[in-house]
Parts: sequence; C-alpha cells; structure tokens
Amino acid sequence: MKKYLVIGNPIEHSLSPILHNYWIKKNNIDALYEKKKINEDDIKKTISDLRNEQIKGINVTVPFKKLVIPFLDELSIEAKKTQSVNTIYKENNKVIGHNTDIIGFELAIRKIGYDIKEKKVLILGAGGVVPSIILSLKKMNAAKIILSNRTKKKAEEIKNNYPNLDIVDWGKISDFDMIINATSLGLNKEDEIKINYKNLGSNKLFYDVIYNPKQTKFLSKAKEFGHRVENGKMMFIYQAHQAFTIWHKIMPKIDEDTIELLDK
Ligand code: ATR
Repeated sequence: MKKYLVIGNPIEHSLSPILHNYWIKKNNIDALYEKKKINEDDIKKTISDLRNEQIKGINVTVPFKKLVIPFLDELSIEAKKTQSVNTIYKENNKVIGHNTDIIGFELAIRKIGYDIKEKKVLILGAGGVVPSIILSLKKMNAAKIILSNRTKKKAEEIKNNYPNLDIVDWGKISDFDMIINATSLGLNKEDEIKINYKNLGSNKLFYDVIYNPKQTKFLSKAKEFGHRVENGKMMFIYQAHQAFTIWHKIMPKIDEDTIELLDK
C-alpha cells in the first residue's frame, strides 16, 4: 500500500486526509493518506522517508512550506518563485518540491466568476501562503495589491520580491474591492480581526483562506454588512486536486459529493 502524508503543526484541522482518501477509494488506488504533526527537527527524516519510497508523496502546511526547501533536490518554477512548497514527490530519482496553492487560488476565484482584472486587493497577513496568492492575483491582472501584516517587516520582505506592492500598517484598512484574510486569525472561532465594517462601502468581496471553521468572524460579519463572502474551501480542493493528479497520474472528479465532504 502506498503511503501519503500531510505534515504541519498544528495539523488537527487539516481535512486533506478526508479528501485524498475519498479520491483514493473512488479511483480504486491501493494507498493511504495520513496527517502527521511534526517538529522542525523531524523534517529531514520525513523527506528521507520519501527519498527511500516509504512515503510516496507529502503535502506540507503551516509552518513548514519554506522550511522543507533545503531538504529537496529541485523546485518547480512555482515553488521557486514563491519559496513555498506544499507538494513533494519523487521523479527520476529526485525529490521535487512544487506549489499547487497558486493554481488552487486562481481556480477558486474563477469558479465564483469574480473578475480580478482592474480590482484593488487588500491582503491581510504575510505568511507562507501570501506569495502564492500574490502570484495568482498578478496572473489575473489585479490593478493593485496591498499588504498589511502585524509584523510590518515581513510584508516588507515580500515587497522586496514584488516591488509594485503597497504596504499599509496593521489595523489600517485601505480602499479595496477584495479583501483576503491570509492570517491564521479565525482558526479559533473566537478570533476577530479589527475592521470597521461600517466605513467600507458596499459590495466588496471578502475572501478567507481558512476553510475550517467554515465561516470565520471575518466572513460572518462581512455577510451581515451585505458583502460577498467566500471561504478557502475551493482553493483547498483545487490545490489537493493538483497534488493528487501529480502523485497518482489520475485527475479525480470534483463533484458535489466532494465539496460536501468537507462540510461535515
Ligand atoms: P508563517 O508565518 O509561519 O508562514 P502563517 O500561519 O502562514 O505562518 O502566517 C501567520 C500569519 O498570521 C502571519 O501573517 C501572522 O502575522 P505576523 O507575521 O505578525 O506573525 C498572522 N497572525 C497570526 N496571529 C496573529 C494575530 N494575533 N494578530 C495579527 N496577525 C496574526
């Protein structure tokens, strides 16, 4: 039986095993996908398990998407550009790190029919997933991308690679058409992001990368004020879909059952 893993810390919230094992079963593949909480010291051993094929594929989540890089032989263009790896596989005897978050975000936005072109997008956060979102937004021709992070220095580091970004202080909300929560605030149901919802204008798109819980306070409050809201579920499904296709060379179906699977 082939073994697959998602590594992170924390990892309890990850729904990757549910999704991957569902597709594994649907496609009659002899495999098992598990989640594993690891520490930084365990990365080396985990990657060497993939190198000697005890593990056939690894998904990487917070906080290891960058930290795994020194242990890999090669990076895909996407992983190189973002310095963020969420999918690892072995090909031609090389351990390769890839990033499927970029395409995951793009497909999720296309699915809801939102046209990013000419839009002003405010991103909250500067963690591992943010460079992927920036690349995606650029590809979809966003007019302006603004970053805001509690630790300003981290936003400035990202700006080094993407000079056209604007940065605003944490707590200041600039004018935007779309706002993205890419912080971990919301993983706990009580987490709140200080936003004065009264002064935002109308008909904005609030996007939360978090998909579990389904509706963070960031989204539920936006909904109260009549804005359009979207959680990270489809981004999550699409990134997993791409990883699955790479590992198993099969494109699994994304149907209503797949989508509902994650609502339980
Ligand atoms: P990493 O930074 O390891 O990639 P991440 O979960 O992708 O981890 O990023 C966490 C993001 O949530 C960061 O932008 C972080 O802000 P800091 O850079 O200032 O740490 C943000 N974040 C986490 N807790 C927060 C809080 N209580 N208030 C504001 N931002 C928070």
